[in-house]
Amino acid sequence: MEKGGGKGGPSSSSPVVVVVGGGIAGLGAAQRLCRQSVFRNLRLLEATDRCGGRICSQPAFGGVIEIGAHWIHGPSENNPVFQLALEYGLLGEKEKSEENQLIEIGGHPGLPSLSLSSSGKNVNLKLVEEVSNLFYTLLDQTREFLHMAETPVPSVGEYLKKEIAQLMVDWTEDEATKHLKLAILNTFFNLECCVSGSHSMDLVALGSFGEYCTLPGRDCTFSEGYEGLTNCIMTSLPKDVILFNKPVKTIHWNGSYRQENFPGETFPVLVECEGGEKFPAHHVIVTVPLGVLKEQMNTLFSPPLPRRKTEVIRRMGFGTNNKIFLEFEEPFWEPDCQQIQVVWEDTSPLEDVRAELQDIWFKKLIGFLVLPPLESTYVLCAFIAGLESEFMETLSDEEVLSSLTQVLRRITGNPQLSRPRSVIRSRWHSAPYTRGSYSYVAVGSSGEDIDMLAQPLPADFLIPQLQILFAGEATHRTYYSTTHGALLSGWREADRLISHWDSEAQQPKPKP
Ligand SMILES: Cc1cc2nc3c(=O)[nH]c(=O)nc-3n(C[C@H](O)[C@H](O)[C@H](O)COP(=O)(O)OP(=O)(O)OC[C@H]3O[C@@H](n4cnc5c(N)ncnc54)[C@H](O)[C@@H]3O)c2cc1C
Ligand SMILES: *[C@@H]1O[C@H](CO)[C@@H](O)[C@H](O)[C@H]1NC(C)=O
Repeated sequence: MEKGGGKGGPSSSSPVVVVVGGGIAGLGAAQRLCRQSVFRNLRLLEATDRCGGRICSQPAFGGVIEIGAHWIHGPSENNPVFQLALEYGLLGEKEKSEENQLIEIGGHPGLPSLSLSSSGKNVNLKLVEEVSNLFYTLLDQTREFLHMAETPVPSVGEYLKKEIAQLMVDWTEDEATKHLKLAILNTFFNLECCVSGSHSMDLVALGSFGEYCTLPGRDCTFSEGYEGLTNCIMTSLPKDVILFNKPVKTIHWNGSYRQENFPGETFPVLVECEGGEKFPAHHVIVTVPLGVLKEQMNTLFSPPLPRRKTEVIRRMGFGTNNKIFLEFEEPFWEPDCQQIQVVWEDTSPLEDVRAELQDIWFKKLIGFLVLPPLESTYVLCAFIAGLESEFMETLSDEEVLSSLTQVLRRITGNPQLSRPRSVIRSRWHSAPYTRGSYSYVAVGSSGEDIDMLAQPLPADFLIPQLQILFAGEATHRTYYSTTHGALLSGWREADRLISHWDSEAQQPKPKP
């Protein structure tokens, strides 16, 4: 076999592989490669001091909270995250049950237990249900446009608004109820922004929206924290594989590099870290988030990525969804309450708001998830997406806490409602190694762009070189934005390398 300049050094039959990023994609790829004896020269470089990336559980309030991923979406047979969680014994009886696995929710979150309006009234839940049915019927209709060359409007948001404007003509309720219905719809639009990780549904491409796939099963959580899963994968790896605090600065590729640890060998890739440390490799699997690629693609690769790749990275969507956890001494909600919706009465998806973010950012909040009660403390988790969410990241804890206290006093109609004891929030847009929350298919982009992003480099050799491979949530065409999409993408790239080396073992490869 000819590798490493044809000298046949000690590692010539064992490729050197570097995985960049220790989220579930990188960990999954590393775990899969480690099971093959040929990949004994494996390193995973993680920028931070922990693994998990956007799977990030934190001890808080005497329990554990999820700063990043919350649910296994579609926990059933074909969900690899569910399967792995089962294997590691991380799920409870209810989550494991056949019954839970069979429930079809089609990716739609359940109805709120309580809906509160900005004037401090309870919104009629029958009305909320009616509006919810309308919203999700329209959202499901977007599938009709899958693979259509031309869509009537470019975005999901514009399509929904056009349909709503038409349907409204036949609404027979009084004016106040019509306004309220629009305000409720506005909350569902904002909720969909959280789901899509997008500032506005006007940015989400209509033609590809239906390509995203859901799996059966009622979404479930990890009682001890999602990070238990990535920790299990991490500890399954040989001890010296993962290196922490190794932010990769530049991936030099398409070259011929030598290194003292591998005398007589040459490598096509050299991975250079911020601290100056260098790791030669035959193959690099890049799993950094799309937000990091967007920000750093010009310096992260040398030579720069080909034009078609950089254009795809620019076109693809990557937005922000954050969580704000509030801790209370006493709940103001009933014990069986699971979700509290917030409806801003003066809003409508058909009207654009022109105001300073500072004055209106909190109106993008969709409401609160009631977390399972902990010992002597009660926790709500608010969700907020988009530019308002990014603005929230720039505020102090105190500012967020007092804004949310005002919101809560307003929606409960109780000006004396006590201030939450404390606040903890995510700041995914400011996180230097994430730069946002997750990807979506933006207007001007398509599922083909996702596949393009996933293509290894260089692409211009007859025999694939597989110098740089791409994995991560944003590279999965049908499960992007999820943990299972990320895991599957890591496995996909590991398998690509495994079959590359299988076929190479069978037939000696000529030098390129
Ligand atoms: C608020 C929030 C809620 C979510 N909720 C859910 C949910 O309920 N269910 C679900 O399925 N998914 C959810 N997701 C999405 C899910 O978390 C991600 O899709 C998934 O975890 C991404 O995994 P990944 O390995 O692709 O990327 P990441 O987990 O981001 O891993 C990338 C790793 O690369 C590292 N890195 C970055 N730059 C460098 C560099 N230069 N050098 C070295 N290392 C680098 C990072 O530190 C990180 O560890 C949520 C995400 C967020 C932010
Ligand atoms: C890779 O190297 C070859 C040969 O040195 C060169 O012809 C080619 O242009 C390089 N490709 C890139 C993307 O730099």
